[in-house]
Amino acid sequence: MQRMRPFGSCLGLVALVAAAHAAFAQDRAPAHRQTMAALAAALEDVLPRVADPVRFEKERDGNELSSAVERLARAASRLKSATPVPDDDPAAAYVARRFDQRMARAERLLKRGPYETARQLLATAGDHCIACHSRTPHGQEMYGALFATSGEGLPPLERADLLFAARRYDAALAQYRAALADPELARRHPHRLERAAVRAVAIAARARRDPALTRTLAADVAGLASVPAAVRGQAAGWAKAAATWEKEPPAELATVADAVAFARGLLAAADTADRVAKGAGLVDVMRASTMLHEVLRARGDAPPADRAEALELTGLAAERLMPVGFPGLPEAYFDACVRTLPDSAVGKRCYERFAASQKPDENDAKGRTIFSPDVQRAIEELRHLSGGRF
Ligand code: HEC
Repeated sequence: MQRMRPFGSCLGLVALVAAAHAAFAQDRAPAHRQTMAALAAALEDVLPRVADPVRFEKERDGNELSSAVERLARAASRLKSATPVPDDDPAAAYVARRFDQRMARAERLLKRGPYETARQLLATAGDHCIACHSRTPHGQEMYGALFATSGEGLPPLERADLLFAARRYDAALAQYRAALADPELARRHPHRLERAAVRAVAIAARARRDPALTRTLAADVAGLASVPAAVRGQAAGWAKAAATWEKEPPAELATVADAVAFARGLLAAADTADRVAKGAGLVDVMRASTMLHEVLRARGDAPPADRAEALELTGLAAERLMPVGFPGLPEAYFDACVRTLPDSAVGKRCYERFAASQKPDENDAKGRTIFSPDVQRAIEELRHLSGGRF
């Protein structure tokens, strides 16, 4: 990859993104801020009632929970119809739509069951906030009136997730660290601990983009006796990737094509690391994903062929982050990739990934229907666009 003047256009990129944000803040602030404030208030009301299954059992018939869930679902529905993002990141509209669907479903299931599904949908509502707020390192931390309670009274991991959703990264990181060092939590919820480790490292590598912080955090996790051995193995890989990152000269990414080439290198490094320990390549995947998000936001005028490739890679990176608990929606990027460059080789690849990533619809799966009509239509539309013949 070409390396030219260090820093120069990286800073240019940041300035472009910052300008887009400022313009957004002025234009649509009032309505959007109201929706966000409503979301934050409702989420803070819902979370403590659903985080603990025992408390949930006591409250699930009560008016307070159902009214809080109704407010959450209403606000999610407003968000969906409000084109909420300051850039054309295709994932945001997708996240908004998915969020609305899931909250509407939670509201229905809270009335007639299965109640545990309703509880889980509500307990993970904050993942949608994270998916939008933490796509890039930009955006303000949210304090005070925006997130009134800071999650006091929530169990440690739920509290950490709420702080993450509010972009209060230092506080979230401290919470994740405390949770990771808690042997009791590790014994009861090994999977959730893995997710906590990934989210902690996402704060260092994605939100803060800080190789030294990433390295020290990863090394600490790798040395924690409370953490399952598999997570320690991954964390050793993260520390190694961060050490390499620390020594790298600043990359010059003047164009989307530069970023695509750089991201490909990072994803290849992640593959190599994953062969040593599964998940060990995540830091490189996070770096690739952050870089691609940045360049897609800032360079809306890039040639469609380059954008389509960047979208494909962003989707592939998201595919690797999703299962380990970093919210994002790969299919949103594959969908956008096909639309950006219809009738092309990259479009066909994206269509195939899109189709493979679709899950059978739970409501309609009576043993016969695999996909809901909506999903079926989306798949067929993209197959057409990508040049696939029927
Ligand atoms: C579809 C994308 C999306 C989702 C989902 C989303 N947000 Fe936001 N949120 C934004 C954007 C865009 C902004 C404004 C710019 C920024 O800060 O990034 C914002 C800003 C905010 C703010 C600050 C508002 C202000 O007055 O400055 C709060 C509070 C907030 N969101 C709460 C939430 C909560 C709570 C959730 C989840 C229950 C959530 N948001 C889900 C996109 C989203």
